[in-house]
Amino acid sequence: MTNIAAVVLAAGKGTRMKSEKAKVLHEALGRPIAYFPIRAALTLDCSPVVVVVGHQAADVEEGLSAQFAGAPLKFALQAEQLGTGHAVLQAQEALRGFSGDVLILAADVPLIRPDTLQKLVEAKQDADVALLACKAKDPKGYGRLVRSASGDVSRIVEEKDATPAEKAIDEINASIYLVGAKFLFSALKGVGRSNAQGEYYLTDIVAKGRSVAVLAEETEVSGVNDRAQLASSGQQLRQRKNGQLMKDGVTLIDPSVTYVDEGIEVGPDSVLEPLVSLKGKTRIGRGVRVGQGCVIVDSEIADGAEILPYSHLQDAKVGSRAIVGPFARLRPGAQLGEQAHVGNFVELKKTVLGKGSKANHLTYLGDAVIGEGCNIGAGTITCNYDGANKHQTTIEDGAFVGSDTQLIAPVTVGKGAYVGTGCTVREDVPAGSLAVSAGKQRNIEGWVEKKAPRKKSK
Ligand code: UD1
Ligand code: CA
Repeated sequence: MTNIAAVVLAAGKGTRMKSEKAKVLHEALGRPIAYFPIRAALTLDCSPVVVVVGHQAADVEEGLSAQFAGAPLKFALQAEQLGTGHAVLQAQEALRGFSGDVLILAADVPLIRPDTLQKLVEAKQDADVALLACKAKDPKGYGRLVRSASGDVSRIVEEKDATPAEKAIDEINASIYLVGAKFLFSALKGVGRSNAQGEYYLTDIVAKGRSVAVLAEETEVSGVNDRAQLASSGQQLRQRKNGQLMKDGVTLIDPSVTYVDEGIEVGPDSVLEPLVSLKGKTRIGRGVRVGQGCVIVDSEIADGAEILPYSHLQDAKVGSRAIVGPFARLRPGAQLGEQAHVGNFVELKKTVLGKGSKANHLTYLGDAVIGEGCNIGAGTITCNYDGANKHQTTIEDGAFVGSDTQLIAPVTVGKGAYVGTGCTVREDVPAGSLAVSAGKQRNIEGWVEKKAPRKKSK
């Protein structure tokens, strides 16, 4: 049990995003940006983590709760945004009885690392406040650290309240703090709003006790305030994620154009070609090759499978050493057995394709259960929908379905049966038999010479 709680500030409006959606719910690496600092706090075993919400409070609470089922997350409402000090005060009720240290961070700093937060824990010792600061190339707009002659942090002055001499300070407040709970709430009670912005500044607590600063990298503490910063934070998070994948033994042909969402696992010796997107709850096994331009959402790909270029998979399961694509579409409920093959322009929905079965060309298989070792010819279509209801097609082990076949569901093709080319299968085909539905072929001799329409000669 650690004795750290966290307060994450997420009540602000995020005006510069120019969005209907709350800023902290905008996504990077497939997660709301607030996910990342909250995750960092949870990695440090902070409990509880109190998220202060205000603008679009209900949406933010719902969006973040969905990310952290089972985590010690609490929400506190700041109905009116009267400043960062006021925001932290709203968490007091949720922290009633807590007497350890409180980690305070903004919800819009997705790049903050647990290791850096840990440095605050080490630096604080018996100080009242440990805060993250950094040397900024362009400090304009930030709060500046005012140090005493001895080098201690004596206070923080906001840009709008700073004298020209203070504006020249390049050490800025990153707005990430570790503060003793008792000191925090008693100091906040004494913070007023007689400043340039008429706000309750959290930064005013710094002057009310002994404060120490830890220097961090500027990029790590930079916030997301607009779409450009959202994109650059996303890019850096992606670099981290891709770097980790490579460390774990995954080959990325070009990591700058490989998009793997946060939380996705890829097994060693897998290869991700350029422009691959792996999203949601996708899991990729060992030795899997994912070809250029594939989009894989919420799917499981077993060891040794190969997903050839430009395939789209969603809520699908692909067995080991199966081959999918190029240009295949696996829709929700598609399930491929070991070594099954699904080729170009083949669509599967709610369909099980058994071990070693093949559907290699131009085919739609929906609501079907296909056994092992079956061959589904080019242009096969399961007619699963009668305009009102969906019906199932069953194809048993070893069956052979000839090209250009329509299977009108509900229908069953028995074990080892054959369906002739161009067949419209309306009735069950018993095991071991051949189904044909087309009439006998007739050839009309000499027809071309006598009857064929002729082009006008010029
Ligand atoms: C704050 C710091 C400043 C620091 C800068 C770093 C203060 C007074 N100043 O300034 O020293 O350099 O961050 O980015 O704290 N928020 C609320 N409720 C409020 C106000 C803010 O929840 O009433 C949240 C915002 O949503 C945001 C965070 O607090 O996540 C910081 O607020 P912001 O207005 O961006 O603070 P700054 O003025 O930039
Ligand atoms: Ca800010």
